[in-house]
Amino acid sequence: MSNSSPRKQYRITLLPGDGIGSEIMAVAVAVLKQVGEPLGIGFEFQEALMGGAAIDATGNPLPEATLETCRNSDAVLLAAIGGYKWDTLPRHQRPETGLLGLRAGLGLFANLRPAKILPQLVEASSLKREVVEGVDIMVVRELTGGIYFGQPKGIFTTETGEQRGVNTMVYSESEIDRIGRVAFETARKRGGKLCSVDKANVLDVSQLWRDRMTQMATEYPDIELSHLYVDNAAMQLIRAPKQFDTIVTGNLFGDILSDAAAMLTGSIGMLPSASLGASNPGLFEPVHGSAPDIAGQDKANPIAQVLSAAMMMRYGLDEPEAANRIEAAVMQVLDAGYRTGDIMSEGMKLVGCQEMGAALLQVLS
Ligand code: IPM
Ligand code: MG
Repeated sequence: MSNSSPRKQYRITLLPGDGIGSEIMAVAVAVLKQVGEPLGIGFEFQEALMGGAAIDATGNPLPEATLETCRNSDAVLLAAIGGYKWDTLPRHQRPETGLLGLRAGLGLFANLRPAKILPQLVEASSLKREVVEGVDIMVVRELTGGIYFGQPKGIFTTETGEQRGVNTMVYSESEIDRIGRVAFETARKRGGKLCSVDKANVLDVSQLWRDRMTQMATEYPDIELSHLYVDNAAMQLIRAPKQFDTIVTGNLFGDILSDAAAMLTGSIGMLPSASLGASNPGLFEPVHGSAPDIAGQDKANPIAQVLSAAMMMRYGLDEPEAANRIEAAVMQVLDAGYRTGDIMSEGMKLVGCQEMGAALLQVLS
């Protein structure tokens, strides 16, 4: 079935970034076009510079023009940024600073990071099958506050001439409440369990966090709220990850715990993420980095990028049917035995980035 005048037309900003970015982005774009057509969904793609590529072209990891292009779109799809080449530049010129600027500039305070073990890839985990089989966790990380953005920050010289590095962990009630609401709503659409992670035994900022979460829980009587200290949460994630459904936590703890949760699946090349604000376009990106060591060799796994496009359809554009079809296609190509190098196992069919893309298009057609 083809449809020449789409029912809906979305404007998508593409930020391919660095390393393997352009290779995996090409696959995601092809998948989006293919899945959109029969559903009457059209796309207008506009590409912009971000990360190292932007530093090379303009000296700035997030040029104002890029931010403007993002603001004028319905959703932003990012691949990956960074590489050895830019690691030694001053902080304001690093690719990572561009990413933080994009999050702040678009007001993306809620970061959703799912870590779901696919049955086809249980063996890829470094943990025992019985520990990880069936794991399905959603980490809801606060993304525009906490110690990443708190003031004062910087390296200062004291009266005695000693240097002093300072960052400040700070959360206001309103910041806690808005991420809390996203987390309670997310838990409601999932297993109905929410675990709030903090360090309230030591940190005042965490005590306020815990008090607000407890208070908010009275408005969500259907959600089972629990609290864990972050050190215990790290331990429990490795010891018995199946006890978790939805986790909500601050920026720094979420950065660390989401990597741990991701690695339960054994394959960071499979994991998408969504960053959402109150109204601005959302940002959708794989959890993995730009993998400069394999860039340009057609070896990258495009699945996290493709699943990020699925999250864009589900959470950014409210097109769940398109998201379902993309996710089902991924399951089908895995069932058919297609594997890129990072998830390869005995008896499977080793393919490159492009061939994985072709397999996805094939099952979608
Ligand atoms: C992430 C990354 C970023 C972060 C870096 C690249 C700034 O680790 O998205 O988790 O710390 O948030
Ligand atoms: Mg991180």
